[in-house]
Amino acid sequence: MAWDKQNLKEVIREKISDRKLIVVSNREPYLHIYSGDEIRCVTPASGVALALDPVMRACEGTWIAHGSGDADRETVDSNDRVKVPPEEPTYTLRRVWLTREEEDGYYHGFSNEGLWPLCHIAFTRPTFNESDWNVYRKVNEKFAEVVINEMGNNSGFVFIQDYHLCLLSRILKKKRPDITIAQFWHIPWPNREAFRICPWGEEILYGLLGNDILGFHIRYHCQNFLDTVDRTIEARVDYERFSVIHEGKETLVRPFPISVDFEKINSIAQDTKYDEEIKKIRRALRLKNRLVGVGVDRIDYAKGIVERFKAIDRFFERYPEYLGRFSFIQLGPISRIHIHSYKEYNDKIYHLMTEIDEKYKTRDWQPIILQKSHFSPKELISYYRLADVLIVSSLHDGMNLVAKEFVSSRFDNGGVLILSRFTGSARELSEALLINPFATDHFADTIKRALEMPTEEKAKRMEKMREVVRENNVYRWAGKIISELKKLA
Ligand code: G6P
Repeated sequence: MAWDKQNLKEVIREKISDRKLIVVSNREPYLHIYSGDEIRCVTPASGVALALDPVMRACEGTWIAHGSGDADRETVDSNDRVKVPPEEPTYTLRRVWLTREEEDGYYHGFSNEGLWPLCHIAFTRPTFNESDWNVYRKVNEKFAEVVINEMGNNSGFVFIQDYHLCLLSRILKKKRPDITIAQFWHIPWPNREAFRICPWGEEILYGLLGNDILGFHIRYHCQNFLDTVDRTIEARVDYERFSVIHEGKETLVRPFPISVDFEKINSIAQDTKYDEEIKKIRRALRLKNRLVGVGVDRIDYAKGIVERFKAIDRFFERYPEYLGRFSFIQLGPISRIHIHSYKEYNDKIYHLMTEIDEKYKTRDWQPIILQKSHFSPKELISYYRLADVLIVSSLHDGMNLVAKEFVSSRFDNGGVLILSRFTGSARELSEALLINPFATDHFADTIKRALEMPTEEKAKRMEKMREVVRENNVYRWAGKIISELKKLA
């Protein structure tokens, strides 16, 4: 069956209409921020928020998340709720307030200095502080209270997102065993040798086993999880059913590859206003008729931006005929900057870019153009359409939705995708040029290959990738999870 917004709505109506659907994540889909005297509503740079928003628009449920915008409190009602999206209010956002201390220990500390590097294995060492862990536990309890409060006397489904909320399902199940719970882990799950350094590994595993369904992007991460459970705690792992039984309760472990709203991006991208936008960007960045590469990422060490810049440097060293003929635009917001490793990475990128620039630049040409700001999904379309080559070089990535957004926006079947084999997307987008971001020489040669690829081959590859994303879209992802949940309810 082909999934779209409409049939997802029907599945929800048919399967869970009489029950409440609550989504919980750390990052909220809409933030309110002060901009001068005015309050603006913005979307964050988060794959999770991006993927779930269209699903929530179809479901009309409640989304509980940390209220992190500086004007968030101004825009909620007395129950901390606000209807979103602002242009067409369809679902409820319930905000959870965290103190500075809670944000530090739970978000910056245990989630992003501990679990994030632990799961990504990107050669940034995790740090584990007991005080962060204690705050993390408390904040998970705080989220649980809000879920219970929103659920009221209804029966229903709770759909938890990501590594910030490892303990939530178990707390909820204890209080409300009647609720059906699924959790989706948006980042990789490491192998058990890597996981075992976490001092609270057992509690995390028990916490996650409160779920009825636990989803990962790919089968490999499911296997890593089962293996970790098998070797770490007292629980029965059933490799045939892909499930874990603990205290008489079963948790199904399943791969659900997340995606984007292909049809929406595909149709927006065809708006002729982008032709003008592209010309403007070419003028503003002095690109003239040069070939253009594009990268779009939050500034995060897991994204392999340093490796990408090194490959571009090697590309110019090896193929000097491209000097002055190719420019690379790196876009994306600064992220998690209160964390030391992120601050350091941010500086590193800037220095590397400056070094490469000094080495090659001419009066009217720059090899790398870095724009560290957040671009809305619509603004990004101009860059996707402008790109002769889009580069995703993550050192490790659960899925990577930039690759799928790029493919969805290339209705002209143009452009080449260079994609790290260490992303979940590489399993589906096999027509991309796959690279190992650590193999600088091969990476550099792949950039040349992409720039010289015959138009016909480009079109063939892009067409195939578009078919894959068209079919495996975000409605299918949500539809599959909801159908599984319903079987258990
Ligand atoms: C990844 C995580 C998300 C997170 C996003 C942005 O995609 O899986 O849970 O929202 O990064 O990071 P941030 O820390 O800004 O929410």
